[in-house]
Amino acid sequence: MRVLTGIQASGKLHLGNYFGAMKQMIELQESNELFTFIANYHSLTSSKDPALLKQYTQEAAIDYLSLGIDPKKTTFWVQSDVPEVLELYWILSKYTPMGLLERAHSYKDKVAKGISPNHALFSYPVLMAADILLYDSELVPVGKDQIQHIEITRDIAIKFNNEHGEIFTLPEYKVDDAIATIPGLDGEKMSKSYGNTIDIFMEEKALQNRVNKIVTSSTPLGEPLKFEGCNLYAITSLFLNNENKKELQARYKSGKEGYGHLKKYLKELIWDEFEVARAKREHYLAHPQEVEAILQEGAAKVRIIAKEKLKVIKDAVGLR
Ligand code: ADP
Ligand code: TRP
Repeated sequence: MRVLTGIQASGKLHLGNYFGAMKQMIELQESNELFTFIANYHSLTSSKDPALLKQYTQEAAIDYLSLGIDPKKTTFWVQSDVPEVLELYWILSKYTPMGLLERAHSYKDKVAKGISPNHALFSYPVLMAADILLYDSELVPVGKDQIQHIEITRDIAIKFNNEHGEIFTLPEYKVDDAIATIPGLDGEKMSKSYGNTIDIFMEEKALQNRVNKIVTSSTPLGEPLKFEGCNLYAITSLFLNNENKKELQARYKSGKEGYGHLKKYLKELIWDEFEVARAKREHYLAHPQEVEAILQEGAAKVRIIAKEKLKVIKDAVGLR
């Protein structure tokens, strides 16, 4: 099955990205044809600094390869290296009713948070539809917040197919219900845009400082702590199996430990989980030409598919 996913290059990778999307994706490459790209055109909607966008794109490539994307199994590229996707984006815009985009939660949420909307932010789901439909993707693993974007993609594809025949494959989404939304330092959804992330690749000391910023209740030392509804517990349990979760619950209830101890424990768990990835990352940071070669090879491969598909689409709508 052809599985496609994209990640925004708008910041450093954080635990929300990892547990909400990457972990499932890395598992999927074992038994599927996995297409993964860095969605730098999408990141442009929120980018304020060109140098930073380039840097984030490069960092995302390195981080993905380090965390388990295997270029022998997975086709990995940067979105803007395949400009055909923008042609499709324009064509699909014609099959996208305004109301469909006006109802998009992620757009409405951003506006509600005070982000001043531009057209790119508004039409973001259409470009995402182009990403997915250009390659006849069958399955798109996403976090919960992205489900509606896949539904919009399907709506656009259905409208197009109704007019022009079965040209687009209707994609399904895959969400791991057990994972759901990963909370950030403040208990809100962990997100780069909210400044509440715990990044995967931090120096050890900086990581501890960041973990220490997780908001906890003001229970006095010596009293039992509540794990239900505790944000620190929610993040820590991502790293634990059921048995370890029970042990942690017992530590909360014992009344013998303060949040300081529990935060040290979480930092150790994060540090150990990403030990292998840190070593790979050192390698790629020292060999940027290897990373570039992987990305170029990926883009060349999907461009062939994109060009063929676009030919069929343009012909169907009457474009030369
Ligand atoms: P951000 O919100 O930090 O900008 P992205 O939009 O780049 O993160 O997210 C990349 C992927 O990671 C998406 O599939 C998204 O659903 C997933 N993801 C990001 N944050 C979370 C979270 N807090 N919980 C679950 N999944 C998340
Ligand atoms: N919007 C996605 C996100 O924020 C990134 C993305 C862009 C994407 N195009 C895509 C994901 C196509 C899956 C398929 O996470």
